[in-house]
Amino acid sequence: MARGHIVCGLDIGTTKVVSVIAEVGPNGYPQILGMGECPTIGVRKGAVTDETALGKSLSQAVLAAETMAKESVKTVYLASPLASQLTGWESLNEQLLNSVQLIGLQPIELVPSVVTAAEALLTDTDKKLGTVLLDLGGLTSNLAIFDGGVLTQTNSLAVGSEHISSDLALCLRTTISEGERIKKLLGVSYAETEDFVEVRSVGGNDQRKVPLRAVRDIIESRVKEILELAHQAISQACRPESLAGGVIFTGGGALLAGLLPLAKNVLQVSKLAIGRPGRVGVPDEMWVSPEYASAIGLAIYGAKRKFRRTGRISGWRQVLDKFM
Ligand SMILES: Nc1ncnc2c1ncn2[C@@H]1O[C@H](COP(=O)(O)OP(=O)(O)OP(=O)(O)O)[C@@H](O)[C@H]1O
Ligand SMILES: [Mg+2]
Repeated sequence: MARGHIVCGLDIGTTKVVSVIAEVGPNGYPQILGMGECPTIGVRKGAVTDETALGKSLSQAVLAAETMAKESVKTVYLASPLASQLTGWESLNEQLLNSVQLIGLQPIELVPSVVTAAEALLTDTDKKLGTVLLDLGGLTSNLAIFDGGVLTQTNSLAVGSEHISSDLALCLRTTISEGERIKKLLGVSYAETEDFVEVRSVGGNDQRKVPLRAVRDIIESRVKEILELAHQAISQACRPESLAGGVIFTGGGALLAGLLPLAKNVLQVSKLAIGRPGRVGVPDEMWVSPEYASAIGLAIYGAKRKFRRTGRISGWRQVLDKFM
């Protein structure tokens, strides 16, 4: 059967690039046909340092999505936390767009990834009630504040879950990948305990026993820093206690075990939850994770735009539009 309009989204994160290809359904909602992921290269400390290297990441992610979807794409919607940075954002946006053009794709629009994540996670009621979406990414954490049904503010913090891994590496004198393993294994969920965890040394030959209490202190202090910065940003925008929809966490950092009880103490809002994209329209269970919310939301964003555009036109123009 012939397919309808196709949209492609590229979420350019600080740790990974995710591409989503979807068919726009008759109701304007996307059915996802393919997704692809690749680690981000060519970006350091929130700046594009190598447009060609970044282009390679992008093209690998797109190729994987195209293969799964059995579609080839020419135009893309883009999402990135870097799009919402205040300093030097114009030149940064230009670099992102250059990397996309380098691989022969035509960018349609660049949207902050926390805004596209909201498409996948927040209902109209959430937005009316007053809800904050907090995307805990790799090197950034991003907030979107909704009130009275509209987006009232976005904030980008230059600290994310990768900083927890590097803190662990530094304090426990081990590698960043070992820090990452310990972070994912333990989080901050366990009770005060005298137990120990085995940590590999930098060379990988020795193992040392480190008290769980020490590990938790390291992770907790970085998470608290992020939450306190978020709390400050929220307090400047509105009264946290007036947010009836509460705070919804997403991004890979939201998978940290024990995050919510810790956040409850710092943020002082009535409701806290982890936002996962819904199962509907997603090709495989593995993509139903907070890590993919902004990419899936970008497909919804793009589908809405396409639907609105094509809904107004007809005849040969509509046929032509299928090939754009
Ligand atoms: N189970 C887990 N526990 C704790 N942290 C996790 C877990 N799984 C993934 N992460 C962390 O999530 C981070 C990546 O999150 P995400 O995929 O949302 O980043 P990104 O979109 O590339 O970054 P950004 O949005 O800042 O550009 C990594 O630091 C990773 O270690
Ligand atoms: Mg992200």
